[in-house]
Amino acid sequence: MADTVFLNDAEFELYRALIYNASGIQFTATNRPILESRLRERLREKHTDSARTYFDMVSKDKEEFKAFLDSITTNLTSFFRNKGQFDTLEKFVVPELIKLKHSSFNNVLHIWSAGCSTGEEPYSIAMLLSDVLPPNFKFEIVASDISLKCLMAAKEGFYADSRISGIPDDYLWKYCDKVAGGYRMKPAIMSKIRFDYHNLNNDSGQRNLDIVFCRNVIIYFDEIARISVIKRFWDSMAPKSFLFIGHSESLFGMDTQFEFVKTEWATLYRKFI
Ligand SMILES: C[S@@+](CC[C@H](N)C(=O)[O-])C[C@H]1O[C@@H](n2cnc3c(N)ncnc32)[C@H](O)[C@@H]1O
Repeated sequence: MADTVFLNDAEFELYRALIYNASGIQFTATNRPILESRLRERLREKHTDSARTYFDMVSKDKEEFKAFLDSITTNLTSFFRNKGQFDTLEKFVVPELIKLKHSSFNNVLHIWSAGCSTGEEPYSIAMLLSDVLPPNFKFEIVASDISLKCLMAAKEGFYADSRISGIPDDYLWKYCDKVAGGYRMKPAIMSKIRFDYHNLNNDSGQRNLDIVFCRNVIIYFDEIARISVIKRFWDSMAPKSFLFIGHSESLFGMDTQFEFVKTEWATLYRKFI
């Protein structure tokens, strides 16, 4: 059952619009086979072979809709992914923010990892900041995603041996505990991160953030959805704050006030005002 399900053009359009309106994720003719293959898995799980019946199901049942959205996301990630961006965080962003915060008698950095997948990104940020921030500085990270499965894994803080290769050896000793089959993040690191279900299609309600990481997420959105997400980031960020997007993503040509910053290690964006 369900192995032979393919969408006809009208059904593809229905699903395409449903997904896009809910999440900003865009399916086109090119990635239609991905949608069809993920859909086939959901149909199998729900014991139906009718894409139309399943469409009616997800349109009515909020929980099933969340599970469906979860199933169509791409969650590839790794620790210290695009190392140059973490070098930029350490050697450029942190010193800039320390200077800024000193002058305003504020010693807390507020960070958002938007589209955090299984947690490697926020844990990398937490390990790095624990290592480089002066002792009188604190930080708090909110890490969000629309994949409940990913968020559950992230909250566990456990990573198999095969997945920890990006973590520098000294961080592994300092911030992770060796357990059977892998490593678990130490409680001190886990306590710095609040994992949250959040759809980037909506305002998160966060304000005055110092750093936003949203890497390898808007690549799946179309131009209109990208513009509204970037605008919402702007509204949630403090003056003189920093935005990291994916290594292969760009705000080039977008009507935005973010300023492009190029460092020795990577590029990023800054909200100056
Ligand atoms: C490829 S992963 C990137 C993970 C990490 N930021 C990195 O660069 O390694 C993209 C993540 O974005 C999430 N995502 C996609 N659309 C989203 C949306 N509308 N709201 C929140 N998260 C979304 C996916 O569930 C997925 O976990």
